[in-house]
Amino acid sequence: ERYRFAVLGATGAVGRRMLSTLERRHVPVEDIKLLASPRSAGQRLTFRGQDIEVEAVTPDSFADVDIALFSAGAAASEQYAPEAVKRGATVVDNSSAFRMHEDVPLVVPEVNAHALDAHKGIIANPNCSTIQLMVALHSLREFGLDHVVISTYQAVSGMGQSAIDALMEEVDAFRAGDTSKQTVFPVVKQDAHYPMAFNVLPQCDIFLDNGYTKEEMKLVNESRKILELPNLRVSPTAVRVPVLYGHAESVAVRFAQPVTPEEARERMRKAENLIVVDDPGQYAYPHPRMAEDTGETYVGRIRQDLADPNTLLFFVVADNLLKGAAWNAVQIAEALIARAN
Ligand code: A2P
Repeated sequence: ERYRFAVLGATGAVGRRMLSTLERRHVPVEDIKLLASPRSAGQRLTFRGQDIEVEAVTPDSFADVDIALFSAGAAASEQYAPEAVKRGATVVDNSSAFRMHEDVPLVVPEVNAHALDAHKGIIANPNCSTIQLMVALHSLREFGLDHVVISTYQAVSGMGQSAIDALMEEVDAFRAGDTSKQTVFPVVKQDAHYPMAFNVLPQCDIFLDNGYTKEEMKLVNESRKILELPNLRVSPTAVRVPVLYGHAESVAVRFAQPVTPEEARERMRKAENLIVVDDPGQYAYPHPRMAEDTGETYVGRIRQDLADPNTLLFFVVADNLLKGAAWNAVQIAEALIARAN
């Protein structure tokens, strides 16, 4: 059986990778609609050698669609996901709009594909930073997850194609002697902007009343939902770095019992789509450029906390636009198809 697909946000950084991932993973696509805002209508993109015109999205765009992949921001998802479901489509939504809704599964297929069984038309793709953390933590569940302290090093592509362009422009201006160019980071339309080129900003997304950023609270709330551990303690710091593609995370996990790095490595090596790169003698550890353009999650620098045998430290990396977004969304679509057959 073949499926009629739509991609909403097809011209964006994630949307383009949804197309390339559908191609790379040989999903049974009968037909694909490329949707975006009226700004992009008429633009042409290729899918499996076929030239396809981008259309401006309307509710009726979803009339003949089986599976719709959404990555056009939360506002567009709120507007169009219910319309798509009404017309019989199943929506895999990359935005934050529905992630914490009780009747919307929030899925990392390697971790909780079973949650798909309860879907009512919308499935949420988790936040990019959360997904790669889940792949790593899931492999260590049997030791009893108690407390996760995480600091992220997040690529600018997480803010969309315009942020990639903006960082490149900042770098060019910097090299031409203009170090003042700052219009986009850390958050578009915020009152204050700071340089992103050759800088590090401890703010991803907006601040909430509790002093944490929205990105940090996503790490807390989404991790608890996906792992089905409502009381898991998570202490997050989310940081933007001048990297184009690939998020990195420094993680300290406290377990219910002592765990050695060798025990952890053994479990991690067996985990699906998790690659252990951990050999200091050979200078082997993960970094974003290594993960770029791949669908796997990489872990290394696995070591015991010097002060606490129940705590392990490690470094996790994945391509934020692929495993962190498009690849995970396509994996969800594949899991839906597998369940329907
Ligand atoms: P467009 O290119 O026409 O603006 P990115 O995350 O890289 O910024 O991409 C966002 C994607 O979501 C783009 O494809 C963009 O289309 C699309 N998009 C944003 N807002 C809307 C909207 N309100 N309706 C439809 N598509 C939208």
